[in-house]
Amino acid sequence: MPRTLIPYSTLLETGEQVRVREVTPADRSLLLTGFAQLSDRSRYLRFLAAHPSLSEAELDALTATGNSSHATIGAERQGADAIEPLGIARYIRLRPEDNIAEIALTIVDHAQGLGLGSILLGTLIRHAVANGIREFVALVHAENTAMRALLRRLGAHEGLPDYGQIEIRVPIGPPGSKEAAALAGSLADAYQRAVMG
Ligand SMILES: CC(C)(COP(=O)(O)OP(=O)(O)OC[C@H]1O[C@@H](n2cnc3c(N)ncnc32)[C@H](O)[C@@H]1OP(=O)(O)O)[C@@H](O)C(=O)NCCC(=O)NCCS
Repeated sequence: MPRTLIPYSTLLETGEQVRVREVTPADRSLLLTGFAQLSDRSRYLRFLAAHPSLSEAELDALTATGNSSHATIGAERQGADAIEPLGIARYIRLRPEDNIAEIALTIVDHAQGLGLGSILLGTLIRHAVANGIREFVALVHAENTAMRALLRRLGAHEGLPDYGQIEIRVPIGPPGSKEAAALAGSLADAYQRAVMG
């Protein structure tokens, strides 16, 4: 049985409350709203190429119900009239026979630098380890200082840049493991708050 995240609320560095939960097939329009708020640079850093729109296949993948091989975790806040999407984090197991998953994070530009990437990454780790993943791998643009800083705090192993891209590998572990004990600050906080059902 795949393990799923119990939704929870937490605070950004601004003191604003955000809700963290798994993305579901009902979230297509929220994802499109969030994508519309990404700058060209954020889209480029996320997709490692110009990416003016999300295809139907990408929307299908991002909103597919999570299972033991993939999940998308989203963060949102209650706006004046509607729910506002703030960011998503995704992992996908690379091969069914092993325990390595590729990850990607996307925070809307106006919410970057407020600790949300750390909150989503800590939550993503908790989800992934509960479903048997023991290593994350990310393909990161060499100029992506924020993502590199985030992964460095997890004890990441950076490969050599190849055409401006770096493969970054990060060991992750369940509560009580040395990998979990090494988490600090908002990453550790999110890891602890993210309870799996
Ligand atoms: C990369 C990204 C996910 C980080 O999320 P975030 O919410 O902005 O990050 P946080 O606020 O949690 O900060 C994470 C770290 O990055 C640093 N950081 C944040 N913004 C930064 C910036 N503009 N320049 C340099 N460092 C930055 C923070 O100081 C923090 O470092 P620390 O842990 O050593 O203190 C987000 O900026 C983003 O979505 N960027 C565009 C898409 C992208 O690059 N996705 C990654 C694809 S693999």
